Amino acid sequence: MNKQTILVTGGAGYIGSHACLELLQAGFDVVVVDNLCNSKYESLARVQQITGKTLKFYPADIRDKAALTVIFQEQAIDTVIHFAGLKAVGESCQQPLRYFENNVYGSIVLIEAMQQANVKQMVFSSSATVYGEPPSTQYVEHFPMAAVNPYGRTKAMVEDILRDVSTADQLAQAENPWKIALLRYFNPIGAHDSGLIGEDPNGIPNNLMPYVSQVAIGKLAQLSVFGDDYPTPDGTGIRDYIHVVDLVKGHIKAITALQGDLFSGGACKAYNLGAGKGYSVLEIVSAFERVTGQTINYKIAPRRAGDLAEFFADPALALKELGWQVEKSLDDMVADTWAWQTKNPQGYN
Ligand SMILES: NC(=O)c1ccc[n+]([C@@H]2O[C@H](COP(=O)([O-])OP(=O)(O)OC[C@H]3O[C@@H](n4cnc5c(N)ncnc54)[C@H](O)[C@@H]3O)[C@@H](O)[C@H]2O)c1
Repeated sequence: MNKQTILVTGGAGYIGSHACLELLQAGFDVVVVDNLCNSKYESLARVQQITGKTLKFYPADIRDKAALTVIFQEQAIDTVIHFAGLKAVGESCQQPLRYFENNVYGSIVLIEAMQQANVKQMVFSSSATVYGEPPSTQYVEHFPMAAVNPYGRTKAMVEDILRDVSTADQLAQAENPWKIALLRYFNPIGAHDSGLIGEDPNGIPNNLMPYVSQVAIGKLAQLSVFGDDYPTPDGTGIRDYIHVVDLVKGHIKAITALQGDLFSGGACKAYNLGAGKGYSVLEIVSAFERVTGQTINYKIAPRRAGDLAEFFADPALALKELGWQVEKSLDDMVADTWAWQTKNPQGYN
């Protein structure tokens, strides 16, 4: 099974590049399609440098059906891991059509190309944002999807599309039915422990960890902590952080599960990938100061509209059905982020 060839869409990005690395190290052949709209080829050059193995790169857009058709003709793809997408919640509120066009239409083109090539195994990058604001702070897969922003709705829509194509095959008792794992990520942070690949955001980071590390290295002056009056122990927001290497290992577990009994006859199933517990913003700041010896300059700012006080994953289903759970600690996440930041102060530039 390890000789499978995996097509990784968005493979040059933050999570995709870590996935390519783990796939190559696990013995898979890797083909990447990425239009580099939010990444650089250098990430893939470094993946090949770390692993001593090569991958095939197609600089193409997933909305380009002709380009995808060529890839499926030239490469004997077994499974697709579909990371390609735009991911900034705030930007999706300003440019909703761009997000629906890229994430939803792009996924439809990809699914069509896969169907034409009779490649019907997919692992899809979904997100905890599909849940919206459920009444419980620990999210379980059976909660209804109720995303509260355009980005989250693009993920929920693609999940629905994939569920429907899978159901159609099951009803038709298709010979080669769709087998799909929808992986709902919580908050991926950290970097590969080589310090050679990591998160390289364009401009000012949207996420807490790259922001904190850019303050620590002096690129940004001060961190704003949005709200210290939430009903949490220290008043700041609590999120479920997951090391990116743990996260991508979940994808390899999912690929293996697609071959097993659970998916025989075709299925489309959602799994939370999270640690199952959260850390507050101030806990992240103090872990960063402790592990790196740096002082983080921060100020308390007003709450941001739409931010929740606290949420984290119930990861029990991923443990039961995929045999996956997180292995790395918060200190690992901080130390690996810091190694990446200090070795690459300008990212991949
Ligand atoms: N990072 C997170 O916090 C997070 C959380 C939940 C879900 N996700 C999802 O995981 C996936 C990967 O996220 P990431 O953090 O690695 O983001 P990223 O921006 O680093 O990677 C996405 C990659 O997709 C490529 N891409 C985008 N649109 C494309 C298109 N139309 N055709 C070809 N390539 C395209 C980009 O160039 C980039 O390399 C995304 O789908 C994202 O929505 C991320």
